[in-house]
Amino acid sequence: MLVDNVRRALARLTHLMDTYVRLPAPDEVRGALTDLATHVRRTPTVRMEPDTVADSPVTLKLETLQVTGTFKPRGAFALLMGAEVPEAGVVAASGGNFGLALAHAARALGHRATVFVPATSPAEKIDGLRRLGAVVEVVDGYYPEALAASDEHVARTGAMRAHAYDLPGNVLGAATLGAEIEDQVGCPDAVLVAVGGGGLIAGLASWFRDRCQVIAVESEGCPTLHRALEAGRPVDVDVGGLAVSSLGARTIGDHCWATRAWIDDSLLVTDDHIRDTQHALWHHARTMAEPGGAAALAALRHGAYRPRAGAHVVAVVCGANVDPATVTGIPSGRVEPVELLTVDTSSRGTWSREEIYGDEGR
Ligand SMILES: Cc1ncc(COP(=O)(O)O)c(C=O)c1O
Repeated sequence: MLVDNVRRALARLTHLMDTYVRLPAPDEVRGALTDLATHVRRTPTVRMEPDTVADSPVTLKLETLQVTGTFKPRGAFALLMGAEVPEAGVVAASGGNFGLALAHAARALGHRATVFVPATSPAEKIDGLRRLGAVVEVVDGYYPEALAASDEHVARTGAMRAHAYDLPGNVLGAATLGAEIEDQVGCPDAVLVAVGGGGLIAGLASWFRDRCQVIAVESEGCPTLHRALEAGRPVDVDVGGLAVSSLGARTIGDHCWATRAWIDDSLLVTDDHIRDTQHALWHHARTMAEPGGAAALAALRHGAYRPRAGAHVVAVVCGANVDPATVTGIPSGRVEPVELLTVDTSSRGTWSREEIYGDEGR
């Protein structure tokens, strides 16, 4: 009993020490961009004409094409590469995109990863984590129970504790996205960013500061930053709706809160707006976005954000992990995974279609 209490107190202390707020300076972000380059992709930007995904022109930053399908590996690699990872590896509570990113990063860097997931997590997510080599511990209950179990694991084993959005590494990783956007298209007039626990926007706000407008977008079902700004402090918020699996953090992170002076507005969009924007991204840009990934653009498409004439606006499309059927109308299971065609290029220069595709090539 006493031992358990000491363990719990230690876990809480570790968390407090881990989460002290530190925002990255520009040279640190530049360094991280270089360090991460062999592990994460420099994702493309695409300039969309007016009357396509929105009435006005907009540049999309397609983190949908990032490894594991979201921006999250930037933070996961930054966390692991900036730490002495113990033999016991790294541990996180996450049934979602951060768990996938952490499992991927841990495997790439040769560390063990243990991910505690609530029993409510979909089986595909759990399978995905296992395929990435993580040890998955399924915990009865919801996210808070998974978090408590992961804290106990940290106290028992000495593993490193990772957080989905509120460690300096999460923010540093997300800030590399800002630097990359600026390298690709210059400093925009405004950048639209979805907010869950706020690690992504904290990174972009730390990078752009007051050089460009940073606009927070949340779904009406997950208004965590919005409510905190209304209350003047982080508050617990009930979350739900279409985007809950990615934007459903109950409390805004300390790092996001520390960057609020650089966040110019906090906007809400409806689930209908998000769904419509997912369809528009598919229709006009053949981009598959999950609800949280489409939220930022939805604010522009549906008028919550109104740019001034001629403004250069960037919308971050930050995640692709969604059942394609909900976006394309193609029934589930009919979209086959892409297979890599490998051909021996050493001796010949040309092949017939039949040689490459077999009978289907005719
Ligand atoms: C696809 C996607 N978009 C946005 C977010 C929100 O990020 P943050 O919690 O850093 O605000 C998440 C978080 O998991 C996500 O997975």
